Amino acid sequence: MTNDKHSQIIPFYGGKYPDLFEIERRCMDRAGKVIQHLDALLPSGLVLDVGAGNGFTAEKLTCDNRKIIPLEPDENMIDLKKNLVWTKGVAQDIPFHTNTFDAVYATWAFFFDGISDLAKGLYEFERVVKQNGSMIIVDNYGHDEFTSYAPNNISSSPDAWIDRGFTYEIIQTEFVFDDVAEAQRLLGFYFGQRGSRIEQTRIEYKVVVYTKIKK
Ligand SMILES: C[S@@+](CC[C@H](N)C(=O)[O-])C[C@H]1O[C@@H](n2cnc3c(N)ncnc32)[C@H](O)[C@@H]1O
Repeated sequence: MTNDKHSQIIPFYGGKYPDLFEIERRCMDRAGKVIQHLDALLPSGLVLDVGAGNGFTAEKLTCDNRKIIPLEPDENMIDLKKNLVWTKGVAQDIPFHTNTFDAVYATWAFFFDGISDLAKGLYEFERVVKQNGSMIIVDNYGHDEFTSYAPNNISSSPDAWIDRGFTYEIIQTEFVFDDVAEAQRLLGFYFGQRGSRIEQTRIEYKVVVYTKIKK
């Protein structure tokens, strides 16, 4: 079968190696600039986090007047200890009615250039958000030290997102590890030998935030 729910999931290491994912989430934007940026962009009301992982951003962006619903397909990622109302599902087939959310966002999840189902996910993003609601996508910008270690291209392409009607902003942040061993462990896992030879704890990292308002 090629179109079952399982084949719609992009494999991710976090459920199998939660200790490595913990390092990633703690260190990749230690200053919390991406969270601050999203907090300022997101409205109050009901917001959907697509590909929410373990609920790291959903938990941080929830506040008295904003409820974030995390949508995540991999049950090994879902952290039931977090005080969140979880939904299991994929970006290509969001299990909510049309015009439900005041905003939708995805951080480093599903909305990557070259994904064959990207159009389906974008259709679903646009469908579930209300008129004048924001659609926000966060990814690697590239042109930085972090992506320079990758053997393949892991940077986003702003031109493709502009063609889809999004505008973008770049956040200049950094990975900050507790020590070199931690940096080598995570970057070695990501990038092989080049990553495991790193001798520093701070690594420049640029993040791109794409935004589109539903008309
Ligand atoms: C890199 S993690 C990012 C997690 C989270 N957004 C964060 O910022 O910590 C990517 C997540 O997307 C999920 N994912 C994989 N395929 C997906 C799909 N088709 N639709 C939605 N999410 C998907 C993975 O299971 C994983 O939890």
